[in-house]
Amino acid sequence: MCGIVGYIGNRKAWDVVIKGLHRLEYRGYDSAGVALLDNGNLNIYKKAGKVSTLEEFAADKDLSGTLGMGHTRWATHGAPSDRNSHPHTSGDGKLAIIHNGIIENYGALKEALVSSGHTFQSDTDTEVLIHFIEEIKNQEKVSLREAVRIALNRVVGAYAIVVMSQDEPDQLIAARKGSPLVIGIGEKEYFIASDASPIVEYTKNVVYLKDSEIAFLSREDMLIKHIDNTVQTPYIQELEIKLDMLEKGGYDHFMLKEINEQPRSIKDSMRGRIYPTEGKVQLGGIKEYAEKLKNIDRIIIVACGTSWHAGLVGEYLLEEYSRVPVEVEYASEFRYRNPIISERDVVIAISQSGETADTMAAITLAKEKGATIFGICNVVGSSIPRISHAGIYTHAGPEIGVASTKAFTAQVTALTLLAFYMAQLRGKVTQSELINLLTELDEIPALVTKTLKTNDKIKAIAETIKDSRNCLFLGRGSGFPVALEGALKLKEISYIHAEGYPAAEMKHGPIALIDAEMPVIFIATKNSSYEKVISNIQEVKSRSGIVVAIVTEGDKEVAKMADYVIEIPDSSEAFLPLLATIPLQLLSYHIAVMRGCNVDQPRNLAKSVTVE
Ligand code: G6P
Repeated sequence: MCGIVGYIGNRKAWDVVIKGLHRLEYRGYDSAGVALLDNGNLNIYKKAGKVSTLEEFAADKDLSGTLGMGHTRWATHGAPSDRNSHPHTSGDGKLAIIHNGIIENYGALKEALVSSGHTFQSDTDTEVLIHFIEEIKNQEKVSLREAVRIALNRVVGAYAIVVMSQDEPDQLIAARKGSPLVIGIGEKEYFIASDASPIVEYTKNVVYLKDSEIAFLSREDMLIKHIDNTVQTPYIQELEIKLDMLEKGGYDHFMLKEINEQPRSIKDSMRGRIYPTEGKVQLGGIKEYAEKLKNIDRIIIVACGTSWHAGLVGEYLLEEYSRVPVEVEYASEFRYRNPIISERDVVIAISQSGETADTMAAITLAKEKGATIFGICNVVGSSIPRISHAGIYTHAGPEIGVASTKAFTAQVTALTLLAFYMAQLRGKVTQSELINLLTELDEIPALVTKTLKTNDKIKAIAETIKDSRNCLFLGRGSGFPVALEGALKLKEISYIHAEGYPAAEMKHGPIALIDAEMPVIFIATKNSSYEKVISNIQEVKSRSGIVVAIVTEGDKEVAKMADYVIEIPDSSEAFLPLLATIPLQLLSYHIAVMRGCNVDQPRNLAKSVTVE
């Protein structure tokens, strides 16, 4: 939530910052703002709306300056408006701050500051923080560096901040706790950003700031301290992402590009991990925990949103193949209900971004209680992998569309590998069964390519149901989480109300909604619950519902009943989620485009939810 960019060097800071904000817009897009330092003047430009609105607003201004910072906001405290946009300034107007996170004790701080004479221009917690820094600087007669450090010791909450001062043209100060921050190291220049995407075109060398660290950057050097004032040695890493991964590459939207990337992203997620001819799965990231996995009593999966749906698919796979009981929890619920966890448990956090606040809090709690923590994450170097004991990266590549697509199928791939790995460790599959499963898994990317060819048919179906007000998605077994994911995709990008349900539960409520206006999307492939799903389709048809069915290619029976069928290649039940999800992503995509929605940046959403 919220994206931040900072630059100090000899380039035109405005250009670096604006380009960076465009790349980070997936993190929030309520409002945007930039602060520039030019010839001793601190100039601030901010506007409600997207980064492009800010660009239009500032087009005729003097945008020179080689030190600057910018922010794209997802509102927490205070409505999206010009005055609540970042950067915020101190009372004397000389200090400016941008912030991603929440200052929880801002109310108490604000009261104290008001009584010592401060007045505020916005409703934000962020403005309180910069006034607090100013107050410490003036009252305790310390440098800005020291004032920021002292202030951060006294605030409660999460933050990634950048601070600059009109009086210090060769300094940017950045700090983090709970919200991500990366520093890019160039030649006599430094870049700061919420993730590496604004940095990658300038330098490959980065430092991921750790919690409670504060960085002092000048054009010549960088000093990192803990907020307890001890000097830290930075760990410089080389970035693996490439610039073309961050661009649309000829597609109209990132979401469509990412849907079409799935043959590759699924392949990348299993590359080097499966050996079909030998019947072997290797997961380097968790191999030290093989003994533990052999003997565990249960696995708890914690996640949010789409990642939680991947967790539900994982439950089916892990229980089926490794025969270990699995519980799948919303991270936000898990953390607040005094869960029973012991040293014998393995808790798996699934997260595309690796930064989701609730998921982080859930594993922090589980870790305190002695559990072993695995992360299944996409963003290398993000917070969840860093606080986990071990993990499996999904290697889907950067996902920019706010609605998750390729990250979901990569998570499901990683969970499939984990299920097979554990089955092998625990002696629950024979060598020949594993050879068969892995041989089939190896073919899945090609089958996904084939499934993507249903695009034109799906577009035609989208045309007929695009004006619906409601939509139901039904599936059984691992088709149920696929239905949940289909419903989530549709509602988040097209704003059509959609619900996912286990098909058998339809008669306990949703059936009351069915009439001739209601599309019902069935996952009706030939698997163990095929016959039962057929009965459910009949129940919908006899109430005049519109049936769209995802079926196994060559299916004749469902085709007789359904209004529309979308064929996917035949596969073992284990791989159904990887194939059946694809048409649902395309269906949501086309409906949203036809309805004129902003597919990549749906209203009110953000890709990385770093607040509770
Ligand atoms: C947000 C995103 C979803 C995502 C969820 C969890 O709601 O819009 O696409 O599934 O957060 O994010 P994570 O990064 O932890 O997978």
